[in-house]
Amino acid sequence: MLQTLSHTAPPMIDTRNEQKARSLVQRDDRRTAGEPFVTEPRISCRNVNVYYGDKIAINDVSIDIGANEVLAMIGPSGCGKSTFLRCLNRMNDTIDICRVDGQILLDDMDIYHKKIDVVPLRARVGMVFQKPNPFPKSIFDNVAYGPTIHGLSASKAELHAIVKTSLIKAGLWDEVKDRLDQPGTGLSGGQQQRLCIARAIAVGPEVILMDEPCSALDPIATATIEELISELKQQYTIVIVTHNMQQAARVSQRTAYFHLGDLLEVGQTDKVFTKPSHQLTEDYITGRFG
Ligand SMILES: Nc1ncnc2c1ncn2[C@@H]1O[C@H](COP(=O)(O)OP(=O)(O)OP(=O)(O)O)[C@@H](O)[C@H]1O
Ligand SMILES: [Mg+2]
Repeated sequence: MLQTLSHTAPPMIDTRNEQKARSLVQRDDRRTAGEPFVTEPRISCRNVNVYYGDKIAINDVSIDIGANEVLAMIGPSGCGKSTFLRCLNRMNDTIDICRVDGQILLDDMDIYHKKIDVVPLRARVGMVFQKPNPFPKSIFDNVAYGPTIHGLSASKAELHAIVKTSLIKAGLWDEVKDRLDQPGTGLSGGQQQRLCIARAIAVGPEVILMDEPCSALDPIATATIEELISELKQQYTIVIVTHNMQQAARVSQRTAYFHLGDLLEVGQTDKVFTKPSHQLTEDYITGRFG
């Protein structure tokens, strides 16, 4: 059973007096405040810099992402959230002028090592984009595509089982089981996004990266995806970029706040939203800018 989600707003920041009593990291201090590291990381990023040409977009970011956690990445537009997310499965390799340095380990594997093949890496670290992007193929073929190219099924029956399981996990099976041969593009926006999640799940990922997965969806479809994220975290590590702070508060255990390419704060989500450590985090979550 899916859990019922509370759609109440995150607790608001504490009173003025408490704020005064708390010493916030000053605006001009760009080191990462809070707790960027965990005891059992699935992904460890150390001193990651990303450049587009000679312009730096991510500046010396170090953070761990724990197994079976949902990490939310928040921050003003242009601060580097998508850029950093794309580092985690080397999607930035597809951008000619983009260069990444520093170290990113998936378990003990250096994903930027020259011997790493990005195709199996992107199966292990799957991605769901802002705009649902089903292939112009049937619902079945959208989900079957990855397992087929990765040779994950020995028979038609096995492939069918993978497709069915993936659609069940993505919470879409009941809605599409009688029309698997129809085009994926014919589904509603929320259904298409769940189809894309099923497609990512079908290749057996360990980590799922989501870049504003609900921004093109209505509140009901958004609630469905959020319930799904809560379910999926039992099995997968999830990193989600969102502009919706209520969403970050509802779905994530830890939150990372980016600002102009710097990672300014990481911590337990309730702590970041109620008692942030950095002045700029507080400015952002209280709506003073961004
Ligand atoms: N392909 C690209 N070529 C050149 N510069 C880029 C490219 N993609 C992003 N940038 C620049 O890198 C910086 C970070 O962009 P990014 O898209 O990562 O921000 P973001 O936090 O995801 O923003 P948004 O919330 O608007 O999606 C910005 O200054 C942006 O202009
Ligand atoms: Mg973005």
